[in-house]
Amino acid sequence: MNPEKNIAQFNQQFAGKSPEFVLTYFLHAYSGRIALSSSLSIEDQMLTDLIANIAPATRIFTLDTGRLFPETYSLIERTRMKYPITLEVFFPDAAEVENMVREYGINLFYESAELRKKCCHVRKIQPLKRAFQGLEVWICGLRREQSVTRHDMQLIEWDASNGLIKLNPLIDYTEAQVWEYIKTNQVPYNKLHDRGFPSIGCQPCTRAIEPGEDVRAGRWWWENPEQKECGLHKR
Ligand code: ADX
Ligand code: SF4
Repeated sequence: MNPEKNIAQFNQQFAGKSPEFVLTYFLHAYSGRIALSSSLSIEDQMLTDLIANIAPATRIFTLDTGRLFPETYSLIERTRMKYPITLEVFFPDAAEVENMVREYGINLFYESAELRKKCCHVRKIQPLKRAFQGLEVWICGLRREQSVTRHDMQLIEWDASNGLIKLNPLIDYTEAQVWEYIKTNQVPYNKLHDRGFPSIGCQPCTRAIEPGEDVRAGRWWWENPEQKECGLHKR
């Protein structure tokens, strides 16, 4: 069966179902060919907790750009200790990073949107392609509420650029609902969330936000909201 053709049918079948229900179906139906990409966000931590309960042998991987916060590395460790899972860590290609830094400098991302995207490409997108090997389904922690670039995303999508089914089990969740799950189930979370960082990426490209600011205002804060995507979620 052509997976691309099943997307509309899947969305109908799983409309209004809980993240646990949707995950249970996909983790079993695509066992061995499905993985969660985790940035260690509250959404991804909730999904990790659910996956550890439903099918702990499922692949869970994170992309270590080399520029993460110390608090994020600490959370990688705490997550690894708590759950019976293997958290795979993918690194960028050393030669690619060295060439980029030699040519454009270590903090090239502040120079222009083009160079920022180049850095994201080398440090995130290329390792992501390696992590995708053998996969048919890619699980993400995206939520519609997160940004203007995500308002029309669906629970299940066809990711044409990677040839994968993309599953967003938390697409309809609010931030408050995710926090409720985290607190109720004592899921480990990034300590920076208690210090004004609702959305956390790389250290040089993330700042704390002021009360009343948009939750993603601290990501690539020097760029327009419409272009604040690193290329991971091309549509
Ligand atoms: S980003 O595009 O702005 O960086 P965001 O931080 O909102 O993305 O995360 C959205 C989803 O993208 C996460 O739930 C996760 O599935 C994936 N993702 C983002 N960053 C990483 C990362 N470093 N490693 C693995 N997955 C990631
Ligand atoms: Fe580079 Fe910033 Fe993108 Fe991280 S978020 S890969 S440091 S440009």
